[in-house]
Amino acid sequence: MKHKLKFADHILAEIRKENLYRQLRYGKVHGPFITFNSKSLVNFCSNDYLGLSGVVPQSQLQSSSRLVSGNDVSFKKLEGTLAKHKSQESSLIFPTGYMANLGTISALTQKGDIILSDELNHASIIEACRLGTAKTVIYKHNNAEDLEKKLRKHDGARKFIITEGIFSMDGDFAALGQISEISGKHGAILVLDDAHGDFTVGPDGRGSASHFGVEKKIDVYTSSLSKGLGAFGGYVASDDSVIQLCINRARSFIYTSALPSFLVDLALNRIGQDREKRQKKLQQNVSMLSCGLERIGYQINSETHIIPIIIGNEKTALEFGRYLYDNGIFAQPIRYPTVAKNSARIRVSVTAWLTKTQIQTALRVFEKAGKKFGIL
Ligand SMILES: Cc1ncc(COP(=O)(O)O)c(C=O)c1O
Repeated sequence: MKHKLKFADHILAEIRKENLYRQLRYGKVHGPFITFNSKSLVNFCSNDYLGLSGVVPQSQLQSSSRLVSGNDVSFKKLEGTLAKHKSQESSLIFPTGYMANLGTISALTQKGDIILSDELNHASIIEACRLGTAKTVIYKHNNAEDLEKKLRKHDGARKFIITEGIFSMDGDFAALGQISEISGKHGAILVLDDAHGDFTVGPDGRGSASHFGVEKKIDVYTSSLSKGLGAFGGYVASDDSVIQLCINRARSFIYTSALPSFLVDLALNRIGQDREKRQKKLQQNVSMLSCGLERIGYQINSETHIIPIIIGNEKTALEFGRYLYDNGIFAQPIRYPTVAKNSARIRVSVTAWLTKTQIQTALRVFEKAGKKFGIL
């Protein structure tokens, strides 16, 4: 167990002392029954008031929180797989990645703590910081120097650094080599939201940290199952005490219905599905599109499958998007407040689905659009 995360054990001991400790129980819901191991009980915990969940083909919906009767056995298997995938002791599935960030960050941080958050972090991280009682300090985007300067100012406090692995609107990698080194130097707890890097980059798709070879320096991972994995849900992976603390304190885990078990099964299936081949194809498509865009004359600052074409003006970005749409290319313009004013962009995301011909066609449209709107 990481020494830095020992505080989670102390909080858990307090919760136990007050007889308030919660534990998960894995069961299987079938109609009015719920089975734990081989013991079948009549389920008086379900919120499936009209008994409608049974009409979903080959599956049941739990219709309850995981701490009540919604904790299907499939969660255990997926959580074990995800923990291994991230080389962590344990993991915990939330209904979405957004909720994983909300719950994890607010459960881990408390009054007196300092959260250092990248200025371009995702809305779910921003909301999570607002939810808690810790003080949030924003550091300049991916700027290790600014981060260290701000860490130094808060010597003595427990510090959390939170960054995305691949930034969702800019497509750049976090400087995880430098950030993890600084984090270690200052004894900070490094939280990595790898929603866009998970399953898509690094050896075996283990994500951004493994891409940089710094997996072991990450203290807490949050991620989404609905991006690289093409399934649904979110999760946190870390030391077991952090996971137990989330089970006991993360309100977006406790006070909401469990992810339906067929989605858990879907994620489990997807993890194995020719992932390696798809990751390779994705890389090829990324190279083809970004090299093609550069050849046309666009300035590309992304090395990943998220490639923003910066337009600036919001109106031009909308017209640019409309032109793409009219020419068979769907790439959404992104504007304030998702990005700063006057930094509107077309967010191009590359997938392994795309064929060479489709990319070539898109490049021709991007070239015409760039010239028409004065970007090239
Ligand atoms: C960086 C980042 N974190 C978290 C999320 C939330 O994930 P989910 O869609 O599973 O709620 C997103 C989704 O857009 C994201 O971009």
